[in-house]
Amino acid sequence: MKIAILGHGTVGSGVAEILWNRNSEVSSAAGKSLELGCILDIRDFSELPYSDRFTKDFSEILADPEIGIVAESMGGIEPAYSYLKAALEKGKSAVTSNKELVAEKGAELLSIARAHNANFLFEASVGGGIPLIRPLYSAMSAAGITEMAGILNGTTNYILTQMFRFGADYSAALADAQRLGYAERDPSADVLGWDACRKIAILSSLVWGKTLRPEEIPTEGIANITAEDVSAAEICGFSIKLLARAKLLEKGKIFARVSPALVRNGSPLSTVSDVYNAVLVRAETTGEVLFYGKGAGKMPTASSVIADIVECAKTEGNIGSVFWEDGAQSAAADTEALAEKYFIRARGLSKEDIFFLCPAAEIIGTEVFITPPLTACELSVLKEKINEHGVLLSKIPLFE
Ligand code: HSE
Repeated sequence: MKIAILGHGTVGSGVAEILWNRNSEVSSAAGKSLELGCILDIRDFSELPYSDRFTKDFSEILADPEIGIVAESMGGIEPAYSYLKAALEKGKSAVTSNKELVAEKGAELLSIARAHNANFLFEASVGGGIPLIRPLYSAMSAAGITEMAGILNGTTNYILTQMFRFGADYSAALADAQRLGYAERDPSADVLGWDACRKIAILSSLVWGKTLRPEEIPTEGIANITAEDVSAAEICGFSIKLLARAKLLEKGKIFARVSPALVRNGSPLSTVSDVYNAVLVRAETTGEVLFYGKGAGKMPTASSVIADIVECAKTEGNIGSVFWEDGAQSAAADTEALAEKYFIRARGLSKEDIFFLCPAAEIIGTEVFITPPLTACELSVLKEKINEHGVLLSKIPLFE
């Protein structure tokens, strides 16, 4: 069977290299011969040993009956969406590392795949090289997953780690992450939290079977986190992580949120550093399960694309458990009503002031305290009161 790769960028070139250099391992994993068939890219790569496989014309791939699987790593919605839709309609399986595409068009592409007895798989779209999607829809499919909390963006985790360890400058750490090939083409998708938002939308849709749209998830990135926040948290025994969370509530509604959050030192997510990602899954039968590994970068992500290619090649027909519905009703819960504890840093407040403003506060450092669970409305009242007596410097939710 021949494989086509759409896009010879960071991930696509890794997929081509693995298919070329580790062909016997890949073929043996699939139980049949898999061959690098065709690579779609507008650029020329004449120096490569497989330069003769490049094309600039997608219709060649579509028309080739020997190509059974199309692996997309172009990024963005178009033309990736139209290409994969056309491939699936021809009965070819499609795999992708493109989280934007899966988060926006996943339900539709899954349904087209099902209708044509093909597969649409996306292991590489969340958690880079961590085998995560497949365990969620297979090994944990009946575990009764109630909650997921993940460090799902390698770039921001790298930046926060540099700030935490070395007091590094934000822009220098971001430039480093870009140089190492972790960041998105437009790094605002990383630092503003959109990338993590798309990833938790995918996990939630897959696990609970209903589309959760990225735009329904309150999302805040790390742009407002200061070196002072990081150091105050550290002194109090916490680290700050960009967390993407989703929780199943009563009546099947989902609470989801992406934001910086305080994680207590010693808890499983607190030690996840640099480009590493981790997802903590809580389920009725298993209790806590932690998935951990490199969340970005060429070869880890390409390895997950290869895993999907192997899965498609091995599988006869559509894998029914990889599916979610595009319901008319939103799956998102009203987050305003949910209460969370917050880490508050404020200037100019005495202990007495803090207890007066927030009687159940847990004071954990100088001008630093943790609130009892507060709704958005209660938090906003507290903010106003703090600013009447002093200056609110930061308010970061606490993950427990
Ligand atoms: N920009 C993403 C990250 C790449 O930093 O995690 C992997 O999805």
